[in-house]
Amino acid sequence: MSEKNSIMQWVDARLPVTSAYEKHMSKYYAPKNFNFWYIFGILAMVVLVNQILTGVWLTMFFDPTPAGGPESLEYIRREVPMGWLIQALHAVGASMFFIVIYMHMFRGVMYGSYQKPRELIWVFGMAIYLILMAEGFMGYVIPWGQMSFWGAKVIVSLVGALPLIGDDLVVWVQGDYIPSGATQTRFFSLHVIALPLVLCLLVFLHILALHEVGSNNPDGIDIKKTLDKDGVPVDGIPFHPYYTLGKDMVGLIVFLIIFLGCVFFFPEGGGYFLEHANFEPANPLKTPEHIAPTWYFGTFYSILRAITFDIGPIGSKLAGVIFMGAAIAILFVLPWLDRSPVRSWRYKGWISKVAIILFAIAFVTLMKLGTMPATKGATYLAQGCTVIYFLFFLAMPWYTKYEKCKPVPDRVTK
Ligand code: HEM
Repeated sequence: MSEKNSIMQWVDARLPVTSAYEKHMSKYYAPKNFNFWYIFGILAMVVLVNQILTGVWLTMFFDPTPAGGPESLEYIRREVPMGWLIQALHAVGASMFFIVIYMHMFRGVMYGSYQKPRELIWVFGMAIYLILMAEGFMGYVIPWGQMSFWGAKVIVSLVGALPLIGDDLVVWVQGDYIPSGATQTRFFSLHVIALPLVLCLLVFLHILALHEVGSNNPDGIDIKKTLDKDGVPVDGIPFHPYYTLGKDMVGLIVFLIIFLGCVFFFPEGGGYFLEHANFEPANPLKTPEHIAPTWYFGTFYSILRAITFDIGPIGSKLAGVIFMGAAIAILFVLPWLDRSPVRSWRYKGWISKVAIILFAIAFVTLMKLGTMPATKGATYLAQGCTVIYFLFFLAMPWYTKYEKCKPVPDRVTK
């Protein structure tokens, strides 16, 4: 017996390293028809690691106080060796994270990856998304630039729309009557430790749930139904090395070219990755002309602003908050709204296909509108898109049940 084997045997008798490696890598049979859309899960992991590593380095030099925030960031950018690179990797990485996550989620919608038995994978994914939004928001507040302060003011004040407890809750969340050093310190501690911990735990559960039931695929076929004589799915290939060194590596290289291209040549992303107003230190006495959230919150911010009217006894502000909350909450229950007998949109009826395309258009339009001033025309457009957004979900139990689907093949196609 070689020395390596004996060491591995010693470890395996105490910790299931080899069996875990086999279960999750070399004997995890993934469908062989994965396409472009299947690289985003791995990319999300890569960006998560990037955010954690660069975040640890930034924390070494960042001063989370109102005066120190903007100043220490300038210090990191100008004085700390390679500080500019670490800072840009983290700031651009935040936008990349959301691009990757939106693609990853849209893949799930197209191929019905949330359907039975993958409901929990989706629910964990949504929990990840929620935490990620909190993480992005707090990360934007802690540098204490103009948009940090005013963004915090607008978003935290939404809590104030709640009846009875609203005003007290705003003070409790901020730790003060306006966003202040107290707010910044608590957001900092949540951003650097509490939320990343929860995020890592949720990603772990997400993958555990995925590997329990196995991956879906663009055809939405259950590959475990057709096994060879050894009990291995005939349409499956070992995740490692075929996907890791094959498709995922190519996807990762292309992604890194785009990501690093932005980091080196386009770090502000035309005001989308980093808004110009945030290079100015926060000034509670000077309201910026146009307070806009970062692009990745645009969809939900637009829905909030689209409710310009009272609904019965509910004032427009509270109604907006309720609609915004509902827009996120409804995504959680997606697995139970889709009653289609097939998973992938390849075999669903034309209503589902049109609905998914309209939903995607409405989602992106709302996202863009959320970063723009709410003119009259923009508000009408946002209201129209909000109707499409909710109709997509609310009518889903009906159209997925009654539309005519195409027959699903027994084996995966290309
Ligand atoms: C940090 C964030 C996330 C990470 C690191 C992550 C990671 C992954 C990985 C590695 C996979 C397997 C590879 C693949 O199918 O692409 C996967 C699958 C999946 N993820 Fe995520 N994910 C994240 C967020 C989300 C979110 C926000 C959602 C949806 C709300 C989601 C829903 C799913 C679904 C439904 C699958 C199964 C897909 C299938 O088998 O077709 N994930 N995830």
